[in-house]
Amino acid sequence: MSSIVLFGPPGAGKGTQAQRIMESTGLPQVSTGDMLRAAVKAGTETGLSAKTYMDAGQLVPDHVIIALIEDRIQEDDASNGVMFDGFPRTIPQAEALAGITQVSHVIAIEVPDGKIVSRICGRYTCGNCSMVFHDEFNPTTEEGVCDGCGSNEFKRRADDNADTVLSRLSAYHEQTSPLAAWYEGRGIFHRIDGDRPIDEITTDILNVLE
Ligand code: AP5
Repeated sequence: MSSIVLFGPPGAGKGTQAQRIMESTGLPQVSTGDMLRAAVKAGTETGLSAKTYMDAGQLVPDHVIIALIEDRIQEDDASNGVMFDGFPRTIPQAEALAGITQVSHVIAIEVPDGKIVSRICGRYTCGNCSMVFHDEFNPTTEEGVCDGCGSNEFKRRADDNADTVLSRLSAYHEQTSPLAAWYEGRGIFHRIDGDRPIDEITTDILNVLE
């Protein structure tokens, strides 16, 4: 079993690329952000404790995240590995992951801070299939109709506002970016320029994974 990590700041395009490369890799997307939002919506104990951190743009404590991943990795569809989106985000999370599954590639999608706020503030997702769009940079082909499933229901995330994005970026630089050196030392870290058209980035990621 060998897994892939998609790494990068908020709004780098991790979710967008995960949805595009899922079919080629055959690995399911495991997004800790999506798992936490589902827990918040369901009103579980995990969701209630995570919500305060998410609303403030801070990282949810490691023990909560690691427990979620330990459970998720036991599911049948994870038996050949998974594609992690937004996990790990701290060195303790990476150390825990190393004890759970082998990671073959860490793909770092790099985008300058100055591009992040506009990406996040224009994001919307399909309420049915979760495909990610952007008001300006990546709109639906037909206005108001999801390219993935044809639904006309879309939603925006509670934490996608300019104030929270700045906190999320600080958390990224302080707690998550040190992971780059941690993985570089293991020879599995690949940098991709994420400030380009979406298709070009997908091609480069698939080339790295070949
Ligand atoms: P999470 O949901 O993981 O959010 P994030 O890391 O901040 O990343 P995003 O989902 O915002 O961005 P993305 O890189 O997926 O970009 P996307 O493809 O959508 O986490 C949310 C919160 O949960 C955290 O703040 C934290 O509280 C908690 N959390 C989650 N995991 C945790 C963990 N492991 N530990 C602790 N806490 C955790 O793209 C963004 C927009 O840009 C879209 O509109 C898209 O259409 C557009 N776009 C994509 N690519 C391009 C491009 N190349 N050019 C132009 N626009 C583009």
